[in-house]
Amino acid sequence: MRSIHTHFKVIISSILFLGWACTIASCSKQKTEPSSDIKTEEITPTENKQGTYHSKHETVSLDTPLSFNEHIQPILSVNCYHCHGPDSGTRLPEDEPLRLDSAEGAFAIRDSGNPIIVKGDPDNSYLIELMESKDPDQVMPLHPSRSPHGRVMDPADIALVRRWVKEGANYEKHWAYITPKKAALPEIKNKDWIRNSIDHFVLNKLEKNKLAPNPDQDKARLLRRLSFDLTGLPPTSQEVTQFLADKRDFEEVYSEKVDQLLKADSYAEHFARHWLDVARYADTHGIHLDNYRSICPTVTG
Ligand code: HEC
Repeated sequence: MRSIHTHFKVIISSILFLGWACTIASCSKQKTEPSSDIKTEEITPTENKQGTYHSKHETVSLDTPLSFNEHIQPILSVNCYHCHGPDSGTRLPEDEPLRLDSAEGAFAIRDSGNPIIVKGDPDNSYLIELMESKDPDQVMPLHPSRSPHGRVMDPADIALVRRWVKEGANYEKHWAYITPKKAALPEIKNKDWIRNSIDHFVLNKLEKNKLAPNPDQDKARLLRRLSFDLTGLPPTSQEVTQFLADKRDFEEVYSEKVDQLLKADSYAEHFARHWLDVARYADTHGIHLDNYRSICPTVTG
């Protein structure tokens, strides 16, 4: 009886699995189709009066040097890493695979006898020559007519990579291994808006993007946002009434509320949950083999 039961379970599982596999296959087909017909807007990088540089993705200051991690890696990751990145399974060209995600790869002497990046000299860097090429048989990334993973790059991004090579093509370690340093406060115009040093950074970005901050919200709404941010829960009506009735200086009332919420169990639960999600604490095996699955080292399933 038990073996018939097991047999039956296997058949049902297989049917479910096939259904799932077909769904995945059709989804990925739908996703890859448009890439053969990639259209990108023609955007010319512009410099404005405040000395900033606009690409589709970033507003970059012209005064401070570019950062590999902040400005360049995201561009290379999207446009190049499929074929020149960490995954050796998709790395090209086959006869002499090229890596652009590490300095060793990018500055290595190639079979041609030269490196593809000459620090400080974009005009003699083969990497820049290929990115700026108008020839679909030569341009990097591969033109969509040559590969389903081909792309046409945003000219503003190409200009950023050119500038990075001119500035010395400095690679950086993963940000997690770089010791944090206190940054100088960025310049801002609307000084009256500032209440603390973090506001300098927020306002600086807003001003660079020509955005004005929203007006202050009413107190009840601020409390609601604070409560959701710190505990994941709305405030109780009693908390709202007390908060609004408190006639002391608002900064004081607010910061007291922050301290109170930081001491609440719901704060600890809310933030612990983010970590548990990352560790996939509540995951199950999914679909047919939905057996117990534990990531907790002290519990055996
Ligand atoms: C879809 C795959 C693919 C993508 C994406 C891609 N490349 Fe390539 N790359 C190749 C292939 C294949 C070659 C070999 C030359 C050829 O076939 O044109 C190559 C060659 C190169 C070379 C010359 C290496 C040498 O020593 O001759 C450089 C430089 C290069 N790529 C840079 C880039 C950069 C920069 C990007 C992103 C902006 C990029 N590639 C994106 C596939 C790709």
